[in-house]
Amino acid sequence: MIHHLRAAGVGVIVDTRGTGVPAVLHWGPDLGATDAAALSALAAASVPAVPPSSIDVPLRLSLVPTRGEGWSGRPGVELFRDAGGADGASAARALRAPRLELVPESVTVSAPAGPADAVGAADPAGGTVSFELVDLDASVAVATRLELTPEGVLRLRHRIENRGRSPLGVGRAAVVLPVPARASELLDFSGLWAHERRPIRRALEHGVHAREGRHGRGGHDDAYLLAAGTPGFGFRTGEVWAAHVAWSGDTELWAERSALGPATLGGGELLAPGEVALAAGESLETPWTVAVYSAEGLDGLSDRLHPWIRSWSTIAGRRRPVVLNTWEAVYFDQSLAKLEPLIDAAARVGVERFVLDDGWFLGRRDDRRALGDWTVDPAIWPGGLGPLIERVRGAGMEFGLWVEPEMVSADSELARAHPDWVLGRSGDPEWRFQRVLDLTAPGAAEHLFERLDALLAGNDIAYLKWDHNRDLLGGSAHAQTHAVYALIDRLRAAHPGVEIESCASGGARIDLGVLERTDRVWASDTNDPLERQSIHRYTSLVVPPEYLGSHLGAARAHTTGRTAELSFRLATALFGSAGIEWNLATASEAELAAVAAWTTQYRRLRPLLHGGRVVRADAADPAQLVHGVVASDRRHAVFSVAMLASATTALPPAVRMPGLDPDADYTVRVLDLGRARTVQDANPAWFDAGEVRLTGRMLAEVGLPMPLLAPENALVFELVAD
Ligand code: GLA
Repeated sequence: MIHHLRAAGVGVIVDTRGTGVPAVLHWGPDLGATDAAALSALAAASVPAVPPSSIDVPLRLSLVPTRGEGWSGRPGVELFRDAGGADGASAARALRAPRLELVPESVTVSAPAGPADAVGAADPAGGTVSFELVDLDASVAVATRLELTPEGVLRLRHRIENRGRSPLGVGRAAVVLPVPARASELLDFSGLWAHERRPIRRALEHGVHAREGRHGRGGHDDAYLLAAGTPGFGFRTGEVWAAHVAWSGDTELWAERSALGPATLGGGELLAPGEVALAAGESLETPWTVAVYSAEGLDGLSDRLHPWIRSWSTIAGRRRPVVLNTWEAVYFDQSLAKLEPLIDAAARVGVERFVLDDGWFLGRRDDRRALGDWTVDPAIWPGGLGPLIERVRGAGMEFGLWVEPEMVSADSELARAHPDWVLGRSGDPEWRFQRVLDLTAPGAAEHLFERLDALLAGNDIAYLKWDHNRDLLGGSAHAQTHAVYALIDRLRAAHPGVEIESCASGGARIDLGVLERTDRVWASDTNDPLERQSIHRYTSLVVPPEYLGSHLGAARAHTTGRTAELSFRLATALFGSAGIEWNLATASEAELAAVAAWTTQYRRLRPLLHGGRVVRADAADPAQLVHGVVASDRRHAVFSVAMLASATTALPPAVRMPGLDPDADYTVRVLDLGRARTVQDANPAWFDAGEVRLTGRMLAEVGLPMPLLAPENALVFELVAD
């Protein structure tokens, strides 16, 4: 059979005829309703020529490509057995060029119809195709599952099973998908601490462009998303095919082009040599590789990913409270007396959740010791956390607490009691003066669960900021990642009301694996709005804004030393899961009033900011960043216009606001977040008039001239249709 899955403008055609490994004949724009004859015709027409000096049959890229099929590109799976093992040399030889064959009766397909449209026809709602492949000589089975979600997101995973008697090594078990030749330009990401998700563009040339993450977490330089698109693709234009690995350990993502076959996108967990050896009868299930197609630029990727994530999100329907985090306010200098003025100021400006960061547990006065000793330090908190929590709760706020469960300091009671729980070998490099706790060591995960469970059971804690401040370096990232997922899952099951934030020295662990079990991600340790504008723009390609912790910092950013206007800081932090990380006890009355007004606006706009469509304009001036959120009914929107540097022309082009209802009339007004600094003699007339009324089509196609913003300033506009 040839299966045609369609959803939300995306089409996927999978050929499972015969006993060859099934192949994706098409992944891209929806080709419309087709019958079996048309699909057969497409399959027949897609068979390529046989070039000179090649295998003697037409080469087709299968869903699990291997050398055994004549595929000389990166394979989907790499498996091995010890030639001296119980299955003998022939099985080992077979695995060098696997000959996987489809078990025809294993193919299962479901293609549910979605809700009916206006004329009564059902919308296609994607579906699933799954099948099993076996190599009898090698005694292995590969079960593959492909799903197209109703939102048009494609995801795939494999299960590798050892059906032999000797251990089966798994070197790679990844997803490989075809991309058309017109996808000749790549975008992915790199970064540093406090500068995460910096975009990198390059041409897709012959060879493999591979991004490998070997941090045991995504890392600050995480590739995050690898996109291949038509030349010059932008936020609103061009076709894009992209992949992301939903996994928080080591990962690989690649794009490959060669002289010999179709271009591919690949991705999966990166396995170290010997890391996965399956005993007889054992199997390995891979993480999902998530693949997205868009005909409308990068925004089209978010347009599929955000609604899909919202369909299973742990925070669906739950408001994102305004947070105050104590880290940059007081660092390790904690005490009730020190925090009381901060609690009072927080309550006054409308904070809803007060989070006590690092420094509350036994002996923790700096970052050199005590990780692992998750009991409250009586020297700082003589009555436990109770009096602080009562004070916070009494001021009308929830209470949250920082933890870093996967880590241990050499100078800790835990390391002294259980040196065997420290991952790696003694003498391995420390990182932020800390080591990793081996969660696979007998008793270690159980101990952590008991400590965290006791903290949550004994205190009124609504939220954990779950940190991870170093790379693994030693041990198995595969086993450790499974173990931390299991620990979080167990804790969530025991305390379903407690929210968890994924933090890793800022944004070094943000992926769709961790998002399944956490409620917020800390996008970066920098609260410098200039850095945050760009970090949010790209992090939100995958992760919806309601997850992205975004805090209002002090005027002078602690990470960069840059000074920013309050209005720029407020305009930037508004678009996310907003919070404050600034010692408000030192803020002026005017600043407190501005922050209070901002939290009021945030609460009012929260359903829109956290439920709408994210749109980003391709501004002509690279110094100008325009982004917004448009309600799903398109009656309401907010847009931000920011200048990151000096304008390249005296009169920057009019700002176009995409994604609105072309035929609706919108009233556009500036949101009062304090005065933005301008470099001009006179504002545009519409701006001084206080508002303007234009159609969505005019706003998208003609746009609005803006006040000439000084560098590092922003304006936020609210648009209401009438
Ligand atoms: C990491 C986090 C910060 C803060 C510190 C505390 O760096 O990213 O936000 O919690 O740890 O030590």
